[in-house]
Amino acid sequence: MIAADVPSLPAGDSPDLILVPATPHERIESIKLNSVAWKGPLNLESYIAREDHLYNQRLTRENLTCWILVDRNEPEGERTILSSCETYRKKALLAHNGTVEDVKTHGIGSVYCRPEFRGKGYAKRMLEELSRRLDTWQMEKESRGQSLFTILFSDIGKKFYAQFGWRPFQSSHMSLPAVAREVLNGAVENSKTRALLAEDIKNSMCDDVTLAKVRECMQIASQSPGAKIAIIPDFDHFIWHWAREEFYTEKLLAHRAPPTIKGAGDDQARVYCAWNRNFGETPENNVLYILRWVYDDPKSAAEEQVLIEAMAGILRRAQLEAHEWNMSKVEFWNPSPLLEKAVSLLDPKAELVHREESSIASLRWTGADQGLGKNVTWLLNEKFTWC
Ligand SMILES: CC(C)(COP(=O)(O)OP(=O)(O)OC[C@H]1O[C@@H](n2cnc3c(N)ncnc32)[C@H](O)[C@@H]1OP(=O)(O)O)[C@@H](O)C(=O)NCCC(=O)NCCS
Repeated sequence: MIAADVPSLPAGDSPDLILVPATPHERIESIKLNSVAWKGPLNLESYIAREDHLYNQRLTRENLTCWILVDRNEPEGERTILSSCETYRKKALLAHNGTVEDVKTHGIGSVYCRPEFRGKGYAKRMLEELSRRLDTWQMEKESRGQSLFTILFSDIGKKFYAQFGWRPFQSSHMSLPAVAREVLNGAVENSKTRALLAEDIKNSMCDDVTLAKVRECMQIASQSPGAKIAIIPDFDHFIWHWAREEFYTEKLLAHRAPPTIKGAGDDQARVYCAWNRNFGETPENNVLYILRWVYDDPKSAAEEQVLIEAMAGILRRAQLEAHEWNMSKVEFWNPSPLLEKAVSLLDPKAELVHREESSIASLRWTGADQGLGKNVTWLLNEKFTWC
């Protein structure tokens, strides 16, 4: 139920409050409520359609739960939604003590409380309840029977979620402006960079060999002290991000064919990236995000130089793609030192930005309870993990 009498609302710490998975109807009601904050350039109908479209992707189908905080005394179908959020179960890897384990985790998103209900402790209560529920939620088939960690990306700074255990992790990025073809002056045409279609990303970034390398890296990482985790960068993640961009282009740029170039690569240097286009309220907020980079560590200084130049070529191609889709910039998260060097080839003044407010990668670790130590390292913490 959307309407509610504000003065008769329960307190945030009331024993009557309960966190439950929303019914399909309640899920739509909670989407309607949070549309005020997140529909961006879409109208309400399109925003609901977007959420349904994303819900039906392989990554999220069967893995997404919409949670609502309600008063247990209200009958299903008539419950007032006090606060809401979504969780997405994901495949992950855990490296510890010389072994690599396949595990499952949850990503949390769309944490919301409608404006007239704010400040009453509903979001806090929801997150306290959620942190406990996620320990075992949808984990029946997992060998440990429970999760070891959950993640979220905070848009409200580093403190709020930390009080419930979601600690801030490395949240940096670099960006480069969109650049028109004329300005590039043949730089893209003359480089070895190749535009990648979805199928190419599948073959060069999500193939068995590449995913086996992720496991090998985790295996090596498992030999040093402390647990390490990574979300598996499988093809379903990229499809999900592309479903999002294709939805927007269909709604907002109906005159144009949907974007088919989903990344760029250099076969000689063996470096590849996948991207997606994000549409904000205004063109300045349109960003081409590089979702993930794939390359092997160079074995010599000469190899390193070749790799850095290839990365720079790919970034140029991304800048051009951003321009062609009316994006203001290209951005990628937690760049490696090699990527930082590639950026400085293109713009020596570009800086690594450490975010303090938005998209703060946050992780709640419960592995200590399972003998895995107090600390955890988050590997492959790139944009593809965002939901
Ligand atoms: C953030 C939000 C969910 C909080 O809901 P709420 O029910 O009012 O929260 P609670 O009453 O449980 O807790 C209030 C606390 O929220 C924190 N908070 C709320 N908005 C915040 C913001 N924009 N930045 C930082 N902290 C914020 C405050 O620290 C406040 O703490 P205090 O009690 O010490 O003053 C709500 O403001 C909202 O829906 N905002 C719009 C959507 C959004 O930004 N969601 C978060 C996405 S990561």
